[in-house]
Amino acid sequence: MHKFKVIHTIKEVRQCIKEWRKEGLSIGLVTTMGYLHEGHKSLIDRASEENDKVVVSVFVNPIQFGANEDLNTYPRYIERDAKICEEARANLVFNPESKEMYFEDAATYVNVEGLTTGLCGAKRPGHFRGVCTVVSKLFNIVTPDKAYFGEKDAQQLAVIKRMVKDLNFNIEIVGCPIVREKDGLAKSSRNTYLSVREREEALCLNKSLKKAKEILTKGETYSDKIRKTIEEEITKVPSAKIDYIEIVDSLSLSPVEKIEKSVLIAIAVYIGKTRLIDNFTFEKEK
Ligand code: PAF
Repeated sequence: MHKFKVIHTIKEVRQCIKEWRKEGLSIGLVTTMGYLHEGHKSLIDRASEENDKVVVSVFVNPIQFGANEDLNTYPRYIERDAKICEEARANLVFNPESKEMYFEDAATYVNVEGLTTGLCGAKRPGHFRGVCTVVSKLFNIVTPDKAYFGEKDAQQLAVIKRMVKDLNFNIEIVGCPIVREKDGLAKSSRNTYLSVREREEALCLNKSLKKAKEILTKGETYSDKIRKTIEEEITKVPSAKIDYIEIVDSLSLSPVEKIEKSVLIAIAVYIGKTRLIDNFTFEKEK
């Protein structure tokens, strides 16, 4: 029978992991902030296929939010999340309180340099320090064999891969493709903030990336041209405000002027008050 439970303490997680390890079972981890959607489900499905046991963490991590960001309004619905996890054959949901995760006098943070200075890092100071700190803690608590992250947060994925390498975590990081709505909008918990009209307008993100892909496939190599094409598409929508359009090397995340190898084309756009991100990776044929 499929066993499933929701637990709230580190002690209980460790107990469970100890029992599984005694049986020689492999463990996959999916870290989330909850309000799960098809994108998260695809990570849990993949983890279930590749591991004997799957842990899903559901924790809205306060230290990765800036002062003016949406920590207090971030959507939460643990009962529904638990149901989705159970249906996707996860075995454990770890849903701690903030005080379980952070000691009042906590003084240690994990900071990945370089890769975190551009893209979202430039706009959200301290964000990746918060992400890397909580992910390191979850890695230490759960000690998974594999951990699954979505490619929608492309910078996060690159930063975590680097952290795992630099800090010798014995964990395989698995990147999973972006899951989209039927009309192309990338799935995100923040899509819930959009009004009906904004939901329609938000399609400009995916449309602009499609246009960029078209001209890249036809042989365009100048980043400026790609950026302009994306910008033209997005500025057709009056409520859209570009936060960034970046063309960067997909490993180092440093800006690229002429496209010669694998690049990440990443955008962040405000639709009304909601900040959405999207991206794709382009491999130049040799
Ligand atoms: O991608 C997210 O939802 C969060 O940044 C993560 C990785 C769960 C850390 O809080």
